[in-house]
Amino acid sequence: MYRIALLPCDGIGPEVLNEGLKVLDVAARKFGIKYETIPYDIGGDRYLRTGEVLPDSVMEELRQVDAIFLGAVGHPDVQPGILEHGILLKLRFELDQYVNLRPVKLYPGVETPLKDKGPKDIDFVVVRENTEDMYVGIGGSMKKGTPDEVATQLAVYTRKGTERIIRYAFELARKRAKNNTLTMVDKANVLTYGHDLWTRTFAEVGQEYPDITQEHAFVDACCMWFVKNPEWFDVVVTTNMFGDIITDLGAMIQGGMGVAASGNINPEGISMFEPIHGSAPKHAGLGKACPIAAISAAGMMLDTLGETEAALAIETAIEKALATGTVPATTGPEGSTQRTGDLVASLV
Ligand code: IPM
Ligand code: MN
Repeated sequence: MYRIALLPCDGIGPEVLNEGLKVLDVAARKFGIKYETIPYDIGGDRYLRTGEVLPDSVMEELRQVDAIFLGAVGHPDVQPGILEHGILLKLRFELDQYVNLRPVKLYPGVETPLKDKGPKDIDFVVVRENTEDMYVGIGGSMKKGTPDEVATQLAVYTRKGTERIIRYAFELARKRAKNNTLTMVDKANVLTYGHDLWTRTFAEVGQEYPDITQEHAFVDACCMWFVKNPEWFDVVVTTNMFGDIITDLGAMIQGGMGVAASGNINPEGISMFEPIHGSAPKHAGLGKACPIAAISAAGMMLDTLGETEAALAIETAIEKALATGTVPATTGPEGSTQRTGDLVASLV
């Protein structure tokens, strides 16, 4: 019996999460998987009502579940940073979800803005480090609000953190058995301390994986190649900040934010699954948002829990639904969120 915490949070989060749950439920029945869901009222509305972001009592309960399924974080009436740091980053850090796994895959039936590229060209996975870098929240400012203001925001990289994410990525390249290629994306030509650590660690860990071709790209060039030659990529490993940026680009080349899923994974602990997209407040409550990313995240959740057959069934159902060419990959007409969920559920 799996215990799954639900954190719908803000904006379109609740409506896309509902469709993910709809499909999860069908897959669970079909494969005899037992689970219960525990919903939590967390997000901008609660913060505005009570001043609480993620109370300790909730954090303690979340340490007891098998997985977390999250909608989207961000509220137009809350200053940027409060919910992001207080909910999403807090969970990633406290639960040590050091892998942020973000597949970039163009499904048949979805249009990419890249002319002449098709599903066989766009199919790779970005392994984003998820607990270090500029995200650690170390820094400060002085003389704030004056012309002499100084601000610092520290990027932190540890040997342990770097090694474990690189090792995870090598293992994934082996497991995928696609091109047996791992590309490290960094900016070692400028970030000569932090990314020197990454470069050396990549080379050292790489010695254990002679079967994996080891490539390297600077982050700016990587952006160019995602667009020009996406077929070159199989598994990409990168730092937290760059991973954040390049996976929005990845979402675009795979047809839109509505189809891009993400897993925050602690291979030895509790993982959390979410769509890559944000809360899109202007679309909230209208049933226009594409729920494929949330449904796909539910599939990743099952896969990580070891329910590979059920996960594959969800993946196949998504493929079939998109192949009909009737599913909007970003936003669609009102009611399309539910209709897409129904369609995928009927194909599991
Ligand atoms: C993401 C988001 C988050 C991030 C924000 C909301 C803190 O953009 O999951 O990619 O930067 O990691
Ligand atoms: Mn992002």
